[in-house]
Amino acid sequence: MKIKRMSIKLNGSLSSDQLELFTSFVATLNPSQVAWISGYLAGLSAQGQGVSDVLSQSIPAVATEVVVDSGNELPTLTILYGSRTGNGEGLAKKALKLATEQGIKATLKNMADYKTRDLQAEKNLLVIVSTHGEGVPPFSAKELHEFIYGKRAPKLDGVNYAVLGLGDSSYFHFCKTGKDFDEQLEKLGGKRLVTRVACDVDFEAVADEWLKTTIPAFGGGEVIASAAPQFRLLANGKATKEEPKPDTHTKKNPFLAPVYEKISLHGKGSKRQTLHIELSTEDAPGLDYQPGDAAGVYPLNSDELVSEVLAITGLNAGDFVVFNDVEKKLETALHKNVELSKITIDVVNRYLETYPNEKLKKLSENPDKFKEYLDGRDIVDLLQDYPAEVTAENLIKILRPLQPRYYSISSSPKACPGELHLTVGVVQYHNAGRNKKGTCSTFLSDLSVDDEKVPVFIESNPGFRLPENDETPIIMVGAGTGIAPYRAFVQHRDLADNKGKSWLFFGNRNFETEFLYQTEWQGFLKSGALTKMDVAFSRDGDKKLYVQDKLQENAAEVFQWLEEGAHVYICGDMKKMAGDVQHTLTKIVEKHGVLSKEKALEYVDNLQKEKRLQLDVY
Ligand SMILES: Cc1cc2nc3c(=O)[nH]c(=O)nc-3n(C[C@H](O)[C@H](O)[C@H](O)COP(=O)(O)OP(=O)(O)OC[C@H]3O[C@@H](n4cnc5c(N)ncnc54)[C@H](O)[C@@H]3O)c2cc1C
Ligand SMILES: Cc1cc2nc3c(=O)[nH]c(=O)nc-3n(C[C@H](O)[C@H](O)[C@H](O)COP(=O)(O)O)c2cc1C
Repeated sequence: MKIKRMSIKLNGSLSSDQLELFTSFVATLNPSQVAWISGYLAGLSAQGQGVSDVLSQSIPAVATEVVVDSGNELPTLTILYGSRTGNGEGLAKKALKLATEQGIKATLKNMADYKTRDLQAEKNLLVIVSTHGEGVPPFSAKELHEFIYGKRAPKLDGVNYAVLGLGDSSYFHFCKTGKDFDEQLEKLGGKRLVTRVACDVDFEAVADEWLKTTIPAFGGGEVIASAAPQFRLLANGKATKEEPKPDTHTKKNPFLAPVYEKISLHGKGSKRQTLHIELSTEDAPGLDYQPGDAAGVYPLNSDELVSEVLAITGLNAGDFVVFNDVEKKLETALHKNVELSKITIDVVNRYLETYPNEKLKKLSENPDKFKEYLDGRDIVDLLQDYPAEVTAENLIKILRPLQPRYYSISSSPKACPGELHLTVGVVQYHNAGRNKKGTCSTFLSDLSVDDEKVPVFIESNPGFRLPENDETPIIMVGAGTGIAPYRAFVQHRDLADNKGKSWLFFGNRNFETEFLYQTEWQGFLKSGALTKMDVAFSRDGDKKLYVQDKLQENAAEVFQWLEEGAHVYICGDMKKMAGDVQHTLTKIVEKHGVLSKEKALEYVDNLQKEKRLQLDVY
């Protein structure tokens, strides 16, 4: 079979629907039709009829390799991804590249834009989906997830599929959404071609290996064409023929940012601490960001906690251990490489495998009690409560690699070029008889401004963005450090020529000591960058007052803003605040839109689908 390849680069001006239409149309053409159409479009272009975008040479938002064959039918594959922070999206693009290299006619689709009625017609389906919240799908996957579990779910008898789940084994519901898709597609009659893989935080190697063996299965196990396309896909979704600059800073190659400033945002007498930290990112390739993005920070464990671990194990700081194939002193590995401040299910499982303990095993088999035990306990607690003669080597193997922590960036790059600001709540609490400190927030709080540098990288958050039009009204709701991205939003709006209305709802415990960035907000109210501000301090009066109460107090006007097309943002606490605020919004819509409860829920759901309600919660 002779296969002719044509690489079509599509400019970002095409919507995803147009892109889909275009690629599926092109895929139906025979070679002479392709020749005719390209001549036709070239003619139109020469006449200046504005179709040059279609075949633009510029770097595309999505590059699709379209395979045109001369008669024989090629296998087709839909790669469907549901992602929040971009890991799954990156893998889906890799899968597209692999598939096209192998002569499989593949289409990349975001679950957020997927028409559920298309599911039944799929022949080959590769699902890549992460898990968020506490075991729930990312928002982009919510509708499809509900659909396959719903009454209208179709029979999928003719559908071959495989699922790659992304997650973090420190969570109780590890890769639950991937598991849900895998099980439910099978229940609906789909044929699982390859066993599901559940990828943990260091997912790249496992995912790459799985994709390499899985993709050929969709082509009948046979590699049809081997000519590799010449483009490579970057993390930002753009395609280029160039290799990335080796000094670009990413999660794997963080930038060591000098510290410009570290200021306490709390007033005197506060029992808690929130810090404003300014980092220099001048001339650091890869550190570009947009309002709404987060920064990843790699911390070190504190001397205090490392000493406690050494004391309880009786191990020597100078013992040698191997971490990631590198030999180093135990003390160094405990400082730099492994999590000490929290213990997770995976750690306890490895501890149990190495040092069996009946009591701990029993506890681990009772999910509620186990969860309660893990909450707030660290490795010192585990070694104290369920002692064993651990060796240095085993200890390093049992502990999980130290993970970066994420912080919503609280500066706008337009207002603060070459800088990146963070708003960090310092975690301190008392649990199981000891005072505990959060690793990264303590690392940041202990930083000395003059000498130390912070290993940092950008985590793009396309799901939390200002409206494209600066005139669109925005409603920002945040509690505690949830205020961080709004500082970036309002700084950005402050510099816009025609700014729309903006309304900030902020909540914290105490007006006197915890009104974060109070003077800045007053300035923004004066300059007009901020139109309205309502605050709720929960511990000031007899009655607890929260941001949702302030929304409720202003219900009629909030509804009016919604009807005027306002975008709504919720940032901060995932466990309670985010749900309460969404519930209040629904109540407001029900009353002031004079809608039934179901219609009000639909209204708020649609806000989210239209990306007019966006969440950044943790
Ligand atoms: C997208 C995103 C954006 C974020 N933005 C921000 C931000 O702008 N500002 C900010 O401050 N944080 C933010 N966070 C949270 C941040 O990433 C860290 O989780 C936080 O700083 C704690 O990290 P740590 O290393 O200091 O604590 P860790 O060492 O990770 O310890 C935290 C753990 O301690 C335990 N714990 C904490 N308090 C208690 C308690 N009272 N009782 C019992 N156990 C407790 C819990 O098990 C908790 O998981 C964000 C998180 C995400 C995912
Ligand atoms: C706020 C938050 C909640 C998460 N909850 C879970 C969870 O319940 N279970 C899980 O396995 N992973 C969980 N994760 C980990 C993500 O699934 C993991 O980081 C994944 O690589 C993200 O992929 P994505 O970027 O494609 O969304 C959570 C991550 C975040 C930031």
